[in-house]
Amino acid sequence: MSLPNVLVFGGLNTCSRALVGFLVPLDGEPLVSHVRVVDKFSVEPPTTYIGAEFPKLLKKPELEYRQANLTVPTTIASMFDPPEGQSAYDYVFDFTGEIQFDRTEMIQIDRTCQVSRRIGLEAAKRKVKSYIRLQHPFYETSTKGSHNEKEDIKPDGVAGTWWHETLRMLAAIEDLNLVILRVGFVYGPYTNWGPIASAMTVASVYGHMKKPMKSMWSPGKNPTHSVHTEDVAGGMWACAQWMAPLGRKEADSLAGEIIIFHNEKSKAGEVEGMPSPDKKLIAPLFNLVDDSNSTLLSVGQTVTSFFGTSFEFFNLVENTVLKLKSDAVEEINEHHVGGWIEMISTSNPPIPNTPLSAYMDKYALEKHVVAFSNTKLLEVTGYKLKKPQLNHDTVKEVVDKWKEEGTWPILDA
Ligand SMILES: *[C@@H]1O[C@H](CO)[C@@H](O)[C@H](O)[C@H]1NC(C)=O
Repeated sequence: MSLPNVLVFGGLNTCSRALVGFLVPLDGEPLVSHVRVVDKFSVEPPTTYIGAEFPKLLKKPELEYRQANLTVPTTIASMFDPPEGQSAYDYVFDFTGEIQFDRTEMIQIDRTCQVSRRIGLEAAKRKVKSYIRLQHPFYETSTKGSHNEKEDIKPDGVAGTWWHETLRMLAAIEDLNLVILRVGFVYGPYTNWGPIASAMTVASVYGHMKKPMKSMWSPGKNPTHSVHTEDVAGGMWACAQWMAPLGRKEADSLAGEIIIFHNEKSKAGEVEGMPSPDKKLIAPLFNLVDDSNSTLLSVGQTVTSFFGTSFEFFNLVENTVLKLKSDAVEEINEHHVGGWIEMISTSNPPIPNTPLSAYMDKYALEKHVVAFSNTKLLEVTGYKLKKPQLNHDTVKEVVDKWKEEGTWPILDA
């Protein structure tokens, strides 16, 4: 049996490198005949952080990287033409979308909705067997329980609204063999993006200063379910293999969910390709989170105890004072950004530059509540989590790899 050909769009700065490492392992047999990764960044020299492993993967004959501007429609079609001697692409993995949380609606529509929709249309035209869309946790769920795929959860902010609308646009492409994988907060080796990476860096500073790390949010139940990048990779692959023999109709009947409208109705007439608010749209949808039941408190405790300090909460007075300040973000950062710079500059061996920062942006400091149930994915596809727990072992693996590549400070004890 010949191995599939795989096309990966976007996500170089989030999770697509982990997928490539899984499909074309450094040591071991590849799962694919050929994989092409397409993103806007240059990789030689890199114009975004790509970690120490990816440049090694790029030397593999199975892997091809293409730098391309995916907002140009004709570019997308050309990326589907396989290299000479290779058969058409079997699976498409769509990691595209603007992940910066403070981008405008227009940018989200152009870079998230339209890019993904055009890739989806082309994939349907080419009859790819599986099209897997990665959906980040840009939602707010209730704090109680874990939410399954049938529940109506609220997209968070401008990014959440348009990332969610993208799912409706893809669901509306009838012949697209679409599966949506909706993940929790991602962390893993060579992943400097997201609130968990941020929490690790900041916790290390408080550990170094021998002071407790403090949160603005009360210790109540604030679920922030997490997932390791290896499981994002494994889950995406499991979805592709599940979909390939089924086709969309059968997959919809087995795992289809209504993708509920969550936008302003008037936008439908303004945004190209946006389905009518009344249209009932169904697509296979799976949640993917680990089994940690992570909360603000548990993640805070895991990372602080790893670095030898504790996780605490500002008291009511401190908190009120802080929230009244227009520059609260800067004030909080003042406490640890300098500490991180000191650690970097005293590291032995020295660290010429690092993609890691102890600066917590507004998104990282805001309260997020995301609780997903992973039961459906595990039952329907048979997928088994590789990293079911966010704990000292998984944190250590991430930090050790940063130390090894020379981006994390090594301090004389
Ligand atoms: C990508 O293409 C769009 C549309 O032509 C253009 O506006 C944008 O500046 C391009 N981006 C880059 C980085 O070249």
